[in-house]
This record gives sequence, C-alpha cells and structure tokens, in this order.
Amino acid sequence: MSDTITIRRPDDWHLHFRDGEIMRGVVPYTARQFGRAIVMPNLTPPVTTAALAAEYRDRIAAAVPAGMTFTPLMTCYLTDATDPDDLARGHSDGVFTAAKLYPANATTNSAHGVSDVTKIYPVLERMEATGIVLCIHGEVTDPDIDVFDREAEFIERHLRAIVRDFPQLKVVFEHITTADAVTFVEECGPNVAATITPQHLHINRNAMLVGGIQPHNYCLPVAKRELHRLALRKAATSGSPKFFLGTDSAPHLRGDKESACGCAGIFGAPYALESYCTVFDQEGALDQFEAFASLNGPAFYGLPVNEATVTLERAEIAVPAELELAGSTIVPWHGGQTIGWRIAG
Ligand code: DOR
Ligand code: ZN
Repeated sequence: MSDTITIRRPDDWHLHFRDGEIMRGVVPYTARQFGRAIVMPNLTPPVTTAALAAEYRDRIAAAVPAGMTFTPLMTCYLTDATDPDDLARGHSDGVFTAAKLYPANATTNSAHGVSDVTKIYPVLERMEATGIVLCIHGEVTDPDIDVFDREAEFIERHLRAIVRDFPQLKVVFEHITTADAVTFVEECGPNVAATITPQHLHINRNAMLVGGIQPHNYCLPVAKRELHRLALRKAATSGSPKFFLGTDSAPHLRGDKESACGCAGIFGAPYALESYCTVFDQEGALDQFEAFASLNGPAFYGLPVNEATVTLERAEIAVPAELELAGSTIVPWHGGQTIGWRIAG
C-alpha cells in the first residue's frame, strides 16, 4: 500500500469565491492546492456579462498571495435575457471559459436564473457552435417535487432534452449526487461529463439529519441515500474520463449556517485534496486519483494539464474546528475531524 502519491497539480472545476473580504480570505486556500478553478458567478448582483466577469477575475487575481500561481476561469451566469453575442465575445476574448445554468431559485443567489430552459435555446445554440461549456445546476425547483428527488427529476424533465436538442454541446452536470446522474452521464456521448464534490463521496443524508440537525453537512443538492454515495464513489474512482474534481466549496460564515434558516453550502476548499485522496485510498484506487483530480477536467475543457506536481503523504492531520474569516469564523469541511492524508512539504 503506497504511503505517498505524486500527481500533476490539480484544478477545481466548480468553486464559489464570493466577493470582497470573504473572497480575499478564501482565495489563498484554493490557490494553495489548485492551478485553476471554474469560478461560479452567483454573486449579488450576478456575473452576467463579460465586462463584469473581467472585473471579478481581476479582483480574484489581486487576492492570490505572492509566490502562488493560480488562474481563475470565469463563468457567465445565464438569465432569460443573456445576450449570445456578449457571451461569444467574452469567450473569444478569453474572459469566459463556461456559462452556468441555474434554474431560477434552485439555490443560493439563483433568483435571476433561467425560468424556462427553452428561453435560452438561442444561447445554447451559440454555445454549441463555439464550444463554450455549459455547467448545469441540475435540480428542478417545482415545489411539488421532494428535495431528495429534484436531481433525478431534472434529468427527465430537462437534461435529456438539452442533450438531445444540442448533441454537440459540452455539458458538465455539476456536483452530481445520485446513481441516476451517474448512469445518465455514462450513457451520454463524450461531450457530457460531471463533477463530484468531496462531501458527496464521504457522507449520505444521515450525516445531515441523525443525532440532531447538522448544518455544516447541508449543501445543495443535498446528500442522498447510501446507495447513491456508493455509486458516486464507484464513478469517481473508475478511471472514466467523464468524472472529475469539483469541490463546490461554498463559504458561508458560521452564524449563517447555524441559523433558523441556515445557508446551503460546505466550505471544502481548505482540505479538499486531502479529503478526495482519502476516498481514493479507501477505495483502493490511488492509481486513478490523478486522472480524476488533474487530467480529466483539462481534457474535457480542451486545456493543457498543469506542469507542476503535488505530493500527498499518508499522515494523520487534525482539521481545525473553525477558521477565521472576514472578522468572523467559518467551519471547514471535516472541521474537528482527523483525516489520513496531507500535502507533503
Ligand atoms: O450548497 C450550495 N451552495 N449549493 C449551491 O448550488 C450554491 C452554493 C452557494 O453558492 O452557497
Ligand atoms: Zn456550486
């Protein structure tokens, strides 16, 4: 059993940085571990144009500590009114790497999201023609649909139609949480892939609801039954190029999580790589870790892999129960727990 593993420097293909003081506080955690990250645009107000994205990118770049190399890859928040020309120009100018489809009101800061997918068909047509990747938060918002069924229902109501109507469109089904999503992605062509978070590989819904409500294990899509967690672990460690790393690290201050109406989101950035590595080790699949973390994402996005490498070693580390952030505190993923891998050096 190997006690160290060296892989190419990984990237995070789904991440929330927020803005202002919180952004400046969280960027170093990601820049320490990852070469690039797909940055989510659900700010208030959302990042809906190339001009807004370029400004946001520059604010992030200014927050990268001296001596660290990190490139933010920007996304366009799609609305019913997205201008296909602005999106295509932003892409050809190197500002936009992808566009993000939030069904309106599906999650945090998604009120301006898309009310009906057919309204953005002209945008999707342009994205298909120009090779812009579509990142999808795949949950229906219909109040009649149980929160645990919202991802599977999204596949049937929307995703099958998108993939059928735009057969060449590059689609990332983000932060998948179900066996249904794994099967769907596996059955699609090579232009459809998925990201998987560390939390959905580690926990099922009991971790959120048993022994008292556990707000730091609450994110959207919510963790599902154990059978789904096992399907995700199998997919992530399978070596299939369709599955890659995306933390969905979503910082909310402690008080905003431990509240009568707690925010959805898990702050996975600080120990992300250690968390994923633990899963691959448990599955006896360390030999597949580099593909998932560092190779499959660049291949899907048509980007070069990173040249640098990172070494992880088997060693117990105690994850702090909380971290200081923006004059307040935040609980990191695995906060207060011990995990079995650390970054060497
Ligand atoms: O848990 C989540 N938090 N899921 C999302 O889709 C959004 C994110 C956030 O921005 O806080
Ligand atoms: Zn997200």
